[in-house]
Amino acid sequence: MTTSTIILAAGQGTRMRSGLPKVLQPLGGRPMLAHVLDTVSRLEDTRVYVVHGHGGERVQAAFQERQLQWVHQAEQLGTGHAVMQAMGRIADDDLVLVLYGDVPLMRLPTLTGLLDAARPGALALLTARVDDPAGYGRIVRGEGGSIQRIVEHKDASERERAITEINTGLLACPARKLREWLARLDNDNAQGEYYLTDIIGMAAGEGYPVEGIIVEDISEIHGINDRRQLAEAERILRERIADQLLAAGVTLADPSRIDVRGELRCGRDVFLDVNVVFEGEVELGDDVVIGPNCVIRNARIGSGTRIDAFSHIDSADIGRDARIGPYARLRPGAELADEVHVGNFVEVKKSRIGRGSKANHLSYIGDAEVGAGVNIGAGTITCNYDGANKHRTVIEDGAFIGSNSALVAPVIIGRNATVGAGSTISKNAPAGALTVSRARQTTIEGWQRPQKQKKD
Ligand code: UD1
Ligand code: CA
Repeated sequence: MTTSTIILAAGQGTRMRSGLPKVLQPLGGRPMLAHVLDTVSRLEDTRVYVVHGHGGERVQAAFQERQLQWVHQAEQLGTGHAVMQAMGRIADDDLVLVLYGDVPLMRLPTLTGLLDAARPGALALLTARVDDPAGYGRIVRGEGGSIQRIVEHKDASERERAITEINTGLLACPARKLREWLARLDNDNAQGEYYLTDIIGMAAGEGYPVEGIIVEDISEIHGINDRRQLAEAERILRERIADQLLAAGVTLADPSRIDVRGELRCGRDVFLDVNVVFEGEVELGDDVVIGPNCVIRNARIGSGTRIDAFSHIDSADIGRDARIGPYARLRPGAELADEVHVGNFVEVKKSRIGRGSKANHLSYIGDAEVGAGVNIGAGTITCNYDGANKHRTVIEDGAFIGSNSALVAPVIIGRNATVGAGSTISKNAPAGALTVSRARQTTIEGWQRPQKQKKD
């Protein structure tokens, strides 16, 4: 039996108070809907229908590269109406799974559990027991405990409102039956909507099996309607990721103060201090230590390397046993070999730095090719930009650049060359020699400091 997954995502999300369609709001650095789609993509053999309405073009544009069936619901007339819009394209023999675009944290086994329960011919419904059921549809069970119907909060009596088992909204059902019941829906209720939940009463009424599955971990059904719920979802996600990292052997100084907005792979005995933000794809080797308050995006960091506090690393590749920071900034295209030291207030962009080279203080290294064993003194700048074009600086193995030098590119500093401190180097500096370019120091003998004149 093939499955068709219908994701309801047409709601406006007014309570987010945002210009962005709700399902595009970022959660863990990715649109909320991407989380649902990723989980669904791990189901075998399913077609995915996304019912969109408000801001539909933006939602479609955000997921262009995915194989999705887009269904437009022009007017939001209710969850039943939304499902109906997709049914036209779904075969009778399919099994239908209904999910919400704003319930992004459900896990794969929960979905397969629903499908497995529905496959033999049943309406499978995911329910939850909660402390505060306000706002949710309530599960009304009969004498023997079987589910009879769902009553929406706004339509419920006092007694029904006391029920703490709620409808999560997620369900699975054979398409043939679903279509039949949907055709019979009306909007004669408190909200004037076509409620998907009314099909439960219809199924039970004709003796069709209704299987309630109670979700164990209610974080899976956390719905997002406002910013507070979005922040709460972020917290749940953070906790899950922290748990995975801890289980994989990573040490976290504080599991509640790490953010992984993308994918993080760690070797053995990695230590992550507080407030580290990871974005995109990051790979850390064995024994890597990341100090507090670092932002690390799309980077590979070799084994034994230490990144000290407040460093910012973006699209960089760092070898083994390197020392970076505190306050270092590695920008896209920074490629650092093993044992490189990059210290405080050093910025490296689109440059390769060879094994064991050091730039420990206050430097800018851009568009440069730096060899191995090079020492770059404090305050050294590669002047790579002439206002129109970028030029390269080459610093060969073993060179020593004195402090506060300006290397005006294009320029080559030869192997084992020494550049005197404070030099402005605009012509190539030959290998093995000392090149100095600064005014000679003179001392004026007998010079007197001016004296303050006495007032009479
Ligand atoms: C719905 C359920 C309720 C359940 C709750 C769980 C119904 C009638 N009620 O209520 O039993 O406890 O979810 O959160 O189903 N949507 C559309 N088109 C529409 C209407 C809604 O795509 O015309 C989408 C929304 O974007 C949202 C989802 O369906 O993703 C649920 O809609 P919402 O209005 O939030 O339903 P609730 O009233 O919360
Ligand atoms: Ca809702």
